[in-house]
Amino acid sequence: MTHDPGEPPHGLPGHRHPHAPGDPSGRPRVGIAGAGAVGSALAIALAGAGWPVRAVASRDPGRSARLVAQVPGLRAVPLAELPEEADLILATVPDDALPAVASGLRLYGGQAIVHTSGALPAAVLAPACGAGALTGSFHPLVAFAETTRAVSALRGATVAIEGDAPLLPLLAELARDLGASPVLLPPGGKPAYHAAAVLAAGGMIALLDAIAEVARGAGMDEAGALAIYLPLVRQGLANAEAGGIAAALTGPFLRGDAGTVRDHLATLERLAPGALDLYRAAARREVAIARERGALDASAALRLGGLLDEPGRPGPAAGEGTEGGRRG
Ligand SMILES: NC(=O)c1ccc[n+]([C@@H]2O[C@H](COP(=O)([O-])OP(=O)(O)OC[C@H]3O[C@@H](n4cnc5c(N)ncnc54)[C@H](OP(=O)(O)O)[C@@H]3O)[C@@H](O)[C@H]2O)c1
Repeated sequence: MTHDPGEPPHGLPGHRHPHAPGDPSGRPRVGIAGAGAVGSALAIALAGAGWPVRAVASRDPGRSARLVAQVPGLRAVPLAELPEEADLILATVPDDALPAVASGLRLYGGQAIVHTSGALPAAVLAPACGAGALTGSFHPLVAFAETTRAVSALRGATVAIEGDAPLLPLLAELARDLGASPVLLPPGGKPAYHAAAVLAAGGMIALLDAIAEVARGAGMDEAGALAIYLPLVRQGLANAEAGGIAAALTGPFLRGDAGTVRDHLATLERLAPGALDLYRAAARREVAIARERGALDASAALRLGGLLDEPGRPGPAAGEGTEGGRRG
């Protein structure tokens, strides 16, 4: 993964399609396919950054009219006519609809089509491309829930770009003009990039949900659990940001406190069985990190690993603490 794909060309390479590029800025005219959350926010943000956003294709006249009212110079056109009005088409439709939308378009050399899916490669857009047309993907790491907030969130966001090499500098320019940072993904890197993003977003929420479930066993409601544990989460994040992941690890796995871990497992089995799998999975990674840091010797790691792999309810071990006991 690299952070800057090079100097922008300020236009699309190899303009050979029959429609002259019509914008005096020299920038490619932008067309939007799908006036949903991402399409609308990108149209508004790009127009605000001085890009000529000229056409939108929507299946819903009300939606396209609302967007047209917000973007000067924008007009609504049928999907098949987008290539007449635009040099760079942003296909902002659901992932599953991308192949059908691409099949409804015909692009020439000097034109490009780009989607905003985090999971799919640019190549899914190939059906839109005649000779010389380029495909790309442009995925802002932004939660597009509400348009105004999404437009401001683009500033400072990361945008993962991938696709045909001649197009990448232009996509990087597009990202920078939105105030975002382009990150170039290697070929084939998209699924891993997106899986990591899903862990960072939904995975973090799932972890918070498990934390709240476990905290119920100590008498807390969700608000109480968030008030108590979010500051701890923030400390961990700040420590990881400052010193890296391994250095940020704290807790019983670093110390090899097998008795405490045995108590946790027994308590979760009784009070929050839905959180057990996540506790075990996180714990195995913590043991591995502790080993890497040299904080745990092999026998302590084996002892902990054995506890975590035990099926069913672990019984308290003599001298290693009892249910409800608290250590460290
Ligand atoms: N939402 C996010 O936070 C986010 C973040 C980054 C990337 N993305 C990606 O951005 C893309 C668009 O997501 P979105 O959240 O903007 O979706 P969305 O709000 O559901 O909008 C998608 C738009 O595509 C059109 N559409 C829906 N089904 C279609 C179909 N079967 N055929 C053709 N057009 C169809 C509709 O627009 P019209 O009614 O105007 O035709 C719809 O409003 C997806 O690839 C998504 O993975 C989303």
